[in-house]
Amino acid sequence: MFYIPVAFTFSVLISAIYGNPIHKRVDQIIDLSTQPWENACGEAGGGDLCNSLSVSGFGFLLAAADPCAQQNASDSMIDLAKKLNHHREMIRLTQIFAQQPRNSNTGQAVPYCQIPPRNHELNGLYQCQFESVNFQNFEGNLKPGSPGTIPYGLTAPVNPPGSCYANPSGPIPDGVQLVTITQNPGVDNVSGSSTNGNDTLSATTSYAAAPTANPASNHSPGNPNDGDDGSATAFISSAKGASFTSWTSLRSTLVRGAHH
Ligand SMILES: *[C@@H]1O[C@H](CO)[C@@H](O)[C@H](O)[C@H]1NC(C)=O
Ligand SMILES: *[C@@H]1O[C@H](CO)[C@@H](O)[C@H](O)[C@H]1NC(C)=O
Ligand SMILES: *[C@@H]1O[C@H](CO)[C@@H](O)[C@H](O)[C@H]1NC(C)=O
Repeated sequence: MFYIPVAFTFSVLISAIYGNPIHKRVDQIIDLSTQPWENACGEAGGGDLCNSLSVSGFGFLLAAADPCAQQNASDSMIDLAKKLNHHREMIRLTQIFAQQPRNSNTGQAVPYCQIPPRNHELNGLYQCQFESVNFQNFEGNLKPGSPGTIPYGLTAPVNPPGSCYANPSGPIPDGVQLVTITQNPGVDNVSGSSTNGNDTLSATTSYAAAPTANPASNHSPGNPNDGDDGSATAFISSAKGASFTSWTSLRSTLVRGAHH
């Protein structure tokens, strides 16, 4: 027998009444965000810290993470790079990770951190946003221009909405990793800051071409109907609910939990 699913009719009804409030969860395969950094870190001799900082870093891309958690994780990644002889590749990859869009469970734009980073290499950087989020309505129902919707250090909303220094032309396609579409963190364009100190890369550095492979080819982004809300809370509870023999098993468990 043919029937129209209840959820579908309900959405259409709500849509007819309120315009277009159907919120689409926007997410990504979070562990891909720090994988190149983790590889560079391993080559630089960072040992077990590479995986642990990588795991804690990508966990903060999940929805409901504190707006500054991604920046703080990036600071820890820069700290390690500095201990490893100011490893330029790790610094560059951290600068890109710091700008990776975060998940949104509500389909709304994700608020920006309102405190400065500890490391000058991250000065002025803020996350891009995924292209399908609602830029007129940030999480918490904040309108553009209200506190939290303008990155620390700026005085006006990001223009174009959803852009960042690594991708100044606009937001990032849903689910895509910034590090697969650019190798240039764009720090030369950060104005009025010392982001581009002499231990970071300069405008004249040539960058390897970004890989063209679809980053999600071997994965499928989370299914909004599969019961996993892709949130930081779910990530943390999946970590608490299991026992681990090593960071690697913790990582694979968390990654599975975050994917499914
Ligand atoms: C981030 O780090 C700052 C100190 O640099 C601290 O005050 C703040 O509570 C941290 N926030 C999170 C979410 O870790
Ligand atoms: C920085 O700005 C210049 C000039 O506006 C632009 O050509 C360049 O592409 C920007 N850098 C990045 C990484 O987009
Ligand atoms: C720049 O390079 C000089 C000499 O190599 C070094 O002493 C200084 O600390 C560097 N500055 C920054 C901001 O890293």
